[in-house]
Amino acid sequence: MSFIAVIAGARPNFMKVAPLLAELNHRNIPAQLVHTGQHYDKNMSAVFFKELDIPEPDIDLGVGSGSHARQTADIMVRFEEYCLREKPAWILVVGDVNSTVACSLVAAKLGIKVCHLEAGLRSRDWSMPEEINRVVTDRLSDLLLTPSPDGNENLIAEGVPVERIKLVGNIMIDTLFNLLPKAENSKIHSVLGVTSGEYALVTLHRPSNVDTPESLGSMVEILVEISRKTQIVLPLHPRTRNKANEFGYLGTLESNQNIILAEPLGYIDFLALSSNAALVMTDSGGLQEETTALGVPCLTLRENTERPITITQGTNQLVGTDKGKILDAALSILDCNKIEKRCPPMWDGKTAKRCVDEIAQKM
Ligand code: UD1
Repeated sequence: MSFIAVIAGARPNFMKVAPLLAELNHRNIPAQLVHTGQHYDKNMSAVFFKELDIPEPDIDLGVGSGSHARQTADIMVRFEEYCLREKPAWILVVGDVNSTVACSLVAAKLGIKVCHLEAGLRSRDWSMPEEINRVVTDRLSDLLLTPSPDGNENLIAEGVPVERIKLVGNIMIDTLFNLLPKAENSKIHSVLGVTSGEYALVTLHRPSNVDTPESLGSMVEILVEISRKTQIVLPLHPRTRNKANEFGYLGTLESNQNIILAEPLGYIDFLALSSNAALVMTDSGGLQEETTALGVPCLTLRENTERPITITQGTNQLVGTDKGKILDAALSILDCNKIEKRCPPMWDGKTAKRCVDEIAQKM
């Protein structure tokens, strides 16, 4: 029977496929879940399956970590074997990770239709691996589901036929609204010893911020400065922990009483922290969107964003990586924690339904 293969590989994919799989199931549309294994640690993968009620994958390709070429190639080889055996009519990929582009390439060459959810986002920064993944995936896609009108504009400007593009809203926000009540019962604040509303939550994992001693050193200096003013909760991505250790910064972070280091957290505990933070500082894409939906001030520690709507219609400020600029912005928010809560249209918890309406018409 004709079915759609939904692909998930890395942490930011899991909160996107969860509501979509539930809606496909609810509408009796045959689907299989493929986990590429790009992320594999319990707290980078399994915890999300449990908390978001995602069914066991039909197949785990088990690729693991590697250079970009090796990881992408391993996913392609194993996903091609899967496609030849199972013959999906469509695949659905989300986001912009290596699993997204690898599976899209395989499907397009086998004549399998590709749907990209979260299509059209552009940072215009070709040094970001995710930007390459986004552009290539969109070029290969037959159905492009966008989270915001800038996505439609970018795709039209690149020559994508308008009938392939559909604005559906932000799928992450479906999961966020679903899980907020559970986050309210989380014990994470007492576990970490922080008080609601009185800490900054920080996440850092972009290669441009953590992969050299200079860039990571500058981030550590910034955190030490801010820790004089408020407690900082810093869940460490494995990439960041490895680099901090390699460059000799882990001791500085660990010995600072006001910097509370944590392992990568599950979805519910992390949402409990983000929804009650005085300030979020991040280089993540998804967190720019989640803070916008939550009305929590966010400083994005990058020179560009593929999610400009979180600035024009949300709580995000792009502050770059300059130490002085970041400190000024952070201290001004901590001194006067007032922000207007705004949320882009269609970030309403009903995106999965709109996606499946589109998919059902095509299958
Ligand atoms: C990937 C995505 C990035 C996304 C991020 C979220 C690409 C190109 N990058 O980056 O867009 O924002 O996921 O986390 O796809 N590691 C572990 N355990 C794991 C996974 C990774 O220890 O379960 C370590 C390994 O040392 C690995 C490193 O983290 O080499 C980086 O993992 P990788 O998947 O290559 O990229 P991310 O930095 O996680």
